[in-house]
Amino acid sequence: MEVTCLVVVLRLGVQMLCLPAYLLWYLGIWEPLCKTLFPYIMFGGSLIYNKQMSGKKKEMFSNLKDFASPTGALTLLEIGTGPGTNFQFYPTGCKIICTDVNPNFQKFLDKSLAENPHVQVERCLVAPAEDLHQVPAASVDVVVSTLVLCSVKNPEQVMKEVLRVLRPGGAFYFLEHVAGAPSSWNLFWQQIYNPTWKRLFDGCHLTRETWKDLEKAGFSELKLWHIHAPLKWQPNKPHIIGYAVK
Ligand SMILES: C[S@@+](CC[C@H](N)C(=O)[O-])C[C@H]1O[C@@H](n2cnc3c(N)ncnc32)[C@H](O)[C@@H]1O
Repeated sequence: MEVTCLVVVLRLGVQMLCLPAYLLWYLGIWEPLCKTLFPYIMFGGSLIYNKQMSGKKKEMFSNLKDFASPTGALTLLEIGTGPGTNFQFYPTGCKIICTDVNPNFQKFLDKSLAENPHVQVERCLVAPAEDLHQVPAASVDVVVSTLVLCSVKNPEQVMKEVLRVLRPGGAFYFLEHVAGAPSSWNLFWQQIYNPTWKRLFDGCHLTRETWKDLEKAGFSELKLWHIHAPLKWQPNKPHIIGYAVK
């Protein structure tokens, strides 16, 4: 991805505006602060995001039941579950394994569970999506990731773990913001904000070409659409949505 001189200059401008956050980062204060505050920000943000994206999410999750096991049961593992934003879209009786690196979401997760008694949480793991060793191979019907692949440290390793835990014929559902099209204004602004955005928002990358990781991962079938999310926030409008079958 080419970065021009103008991008570098504007990046510096954004970094200067966010100098206090950078200072806290270098003093080692920002990261723990972020881990504590992020669940609150994410909870508020997810209410707005879900309002704007509920149509897309409903459509995406509408065929979840097609991937239930032959007994009719559906075991679903969600990576980066956060505050449990997606529970409302899951079918009745669905058994969920929640996984996230940040244990500070628990309070919001409990709230979401209380509001969605139609689903059942089997267990909650504090674990990175790159290492789900507590979950046996080929043991889940569906894996879900929404707004997580932008933040994981190693997307390639996450794909390997997703494929490992899915049973043959199981599906990986994703809704992720991604890099804008080449030469677009979206990508231009994403490149400017990206270094600061990563620091401010818990390691979230604006310019990941996540569809490439999905294409390379080795799924037997990939249904992937590029969309422009109807969000007010310009930099993370380009999204990919779909599912991939093991
Ligand atoms: C932007 S939030 C999205 C939360 C939720 N999936 C949603 O759509 O509302 C990103 C989530 O990914 C989690 N996360 C970041 N890196 C992760 C990793 N390597 N493995 C698992 N979860 C991770 C964060 O803690 C956070 O809960």
